[in-house]
Amino acid sequence: MRRKLVAGNWKMNGDRTMAVALCRDILRGLKYENEVEVVLFPPHILIPLTVEALTGSRIAIGAQDVDVNENGAFTGQVSLSMLVDSGCRYVIIGHSERRLLYHETDDLVAQKTCVVLNAGLEAIVCLGETLAERESGKTEQVVARQLRAIIEAVEMAAFSSIVIAYEPVWAIGSGLTATPTQAEHVHLFIRDQLAKHDRRIANECRIIYGGSMKPENTAELIAQPDVDGGLIGGASLNATDFVAICNTAHLT
Ligand code: PGA
Repeated sequence: MRRKLVAGNWKMNGDRTMAVALCRDILRGLKYENEVEVVLFPPHILIPLTVEALTGSRIAIGAQDVDVNENGAFTGQVSLSMLVDSGCRYVIIGHSERRLLYHETDDLVAQKTCVVLNAGLEAIVCLGETLAERESGKTEQVVARQLRAIIEAVEMAAFSSIVIAYEPVWAIGSGLTATPTQAEHVHLFIRDQLAKHDRRIANECRIIYGGSMKPENTAELIAQPDVDGGLIGGASLNATDFVAICNTAHLT
């Protein structure tokens, strides 16, 4: 049985006041902390404060990105050991905004995944097609290529510490959500790709959905057999909405 996971990606939003208030309101509202794993991804600079605000709770903290280098002359970058030192347990890797805006390649995404796993943290690896790719019938081809880069870089057993996030790029921040059928189709496709290498690991690996997920569409998405939770952007900045998503995720 795969435990549901709901992750809140704050992206480049928030300040100290907002972070403390959001953590407080989420803690007040969460009903099923044992059943649903909740992870928050604040901007790097808010990580220590957020860790402190959540002390004693079961909510984990993660980072939105990491550099592949350990330390040294890499102006502006943050290393994995710094994230560990700050209390992170997860790192989001290969978000489409990083792939598209900062030109991250499949190869770099795979390298970053290895860095995260080698340090004993969990990676949420994002995959997903653009609208043009979907409209030209290339969804499976693109997702398979992105996944293959990870499969080639890690042992299959490592997928027990990897969460795959299927995030169709056209659904992110657009208000357009994949239908439950569209999401399930790709989630099952991803699981089948993993199963070609190891059926047991494929069954254990959590595959979460991201892209305009909100309280109103959570139940039907999460009800799909291969949708194991959500990666929430915009709605994770609103405690009422985020809590509603987390509390709904426990239902299935
Ligand atoms: P969204 O973002 O929920 O605002 O669409 C999801 C994501 O980018 O992870």
